[in-house]
Amino acid sequence: MAQNQPHFLLITFPAQGHINPAFRFAKRLLMLGVKVTIATTISAHRKITKAGRVPESFDFALFSDGFDDGLDRKSHDTTVFMGQLRTRGAQSLKQTIVSNTENGTPITCLVYTLLLPWAGEVARDLKVPSAMLWIQPASVFRVYYYYFHGYDKLIGDDCNEPSWSIQLPGLPLLKSRDLPSFCLPSNPYDYVLPLFKEQLDKLDSEDKPNILVNSFDELEEEALKEINDKINMIAVGPLIPSAFLDGKDSSDESIGGDLFKKSKEYVEWMNTKPKGSIVYISFGSIIMLSNKQKKAMVQGLLACGRPFLWVIRDEDSNTKGDKLEEDEEEEELKCLEQLEKLGLIVPWCSQLEVLSHPSLGCFVTHCGWNSTLESIGCGVPVVAFPQWTDQCTNAKLIEDVWGTGMRVTVIEDGVVESEEITRCIEVVMGGNEKGAKMRKNAMKWKDCAKNAMQESGSSYMNLKKFVEQVNGSFAQDENRDLE
Ligand code: UDX
Repeated sequence: MAQNQPHFLLITFPAQGHINPAFRFAKRLLMLGVKVTIATTISAHRKITKAGRVPESFDFALFSDGFDDGLDRKSHDTTVFMGQLRTRGAQSLKQTIVSNTENGTPITCLVYTLLLPWAGEVARDLKVPSAMLWIQPASVFRVYYYYFHGYDKLIGDDCNEPSWSIQLPGLPLLKSRDLPSFCLPSNPYDYVLPLFKEQLDKLDSEDKPNILVNSFDELEEEALKEINDKINMIAVGPLIPSAFLDGKDSSDESIGGDLFKKSKEYVEWMNTKPKGSIVYISFGSIIMLSNKQKKAMVQGLLACGRPFLWVIRDEDSNTKGDKLEEDEEEEELKCLEQLEKLGLIVPWCSQLEVLSHPSLGCFVTHCGWNSTLESIGCGVPVVAFPQWTDQCTNAKLIEDVWGTGMRVTVIEDGVVESEEITRCIEVVMGGNEKGAKMRKNAMKWKDCAKNAMQESGSSYMNLKKFVEQVNGSFAQDENRDLE
């Protein structure tokens, strides 16, 4: 390691939606001459190697969270998992920092993603500068910030009333359906909110902490402003592989990115379709649609009659839930035959390759932040189909702030009906003025995203400045110790 070369230790939560932006961030650091060590669990590393690709340019500091075969949300206890991740992760981080100091490759900055509030504490104990990498929009960070600074009292049981809304500083007026689902009284996931609270309490105890945000200045101008003179927001995104933004570096560091370049049947199929004709449907790496919702999707797609590519992950297609009656099964088979004539169902794909394909017309998405940014980076308009967490706020931004898509309306039981799915796809892809405007906006934001990541672009410069600042303060601290 060259003298004074910055050395970042990056720890990521072991979920796809966290690992992808963390790796892409690591790649950006490498491009700035930073040495990077990635700390994550054995299960996350297995996911990466199973996908056929371990980036050679990173060092790994792996640890076991006791769930080396991955977390099965149905049979495992999430609280036990989070507890073990915390104790074993903190211990491993300490060891990694200490051994690197002893080996003459000191860690100059620790960066940690969401749901790991204890990581910053390890850094503070060992006097290593640290920053959080916020892998959701700045707007969502703001919602949580204000929620834990008194605004939670304004979100009561009446929040589902049609007239209810909330105005938070730096954000558009939000209705309850626009808030992160964890902030609503109906949230059933008890363990999540305390983790966000713990994270914000820790940030409150620091002197103007830096939050690195996977976003860019132009996209979230207001939300990225300093919060109350207390929190510094630094936009470093969109964290999308350079191959899909400016084509400078052709490697795709998303998990499975290169693997799927090898099995290209769906790309060959896409090649046979007219420009802008395909509907791509994917709900990310976690959500499993109910049978009722899948059925409505099938009917909606059939009514559109457009070619489609639909990702249904293996574990999703295996969870059948309610059993079908014989005549229902027959009906389903008939639908499947019709479906096969129109499109393809795959268990996984290289999403960026699909989104940047010329035949793609629109993306029916759950609005996970990675998928949202990827649609922006590729200039693809969307049908926003949010399910939970930040996705509800992301959908609001897509529809009302950036104008790059249309949000579905949920009628009953959280299910979106087939007619609604067809209607939204037709608006986004059809010849009407509304759809044309969304497509135009999507292209405008694509250019902005590309510019932000270019040398001299806002996110590139923000990250460069941050690395220089952190390195400067680390060197100063070292000198102080020597005096
Ligand atoms: C989770 C949360 O659900 C989301 O709300 C939050 O913003 C991030 O963490 P996830 O649901 O997996 O993420 O969605 P998303 O953020 O969109 O990430 C999915 C990633 O998997 C994307 O990078 C996407 O490109 C990739 N993907 C998905 C594929 O490469 N192939 C696929 O077939 C599907």
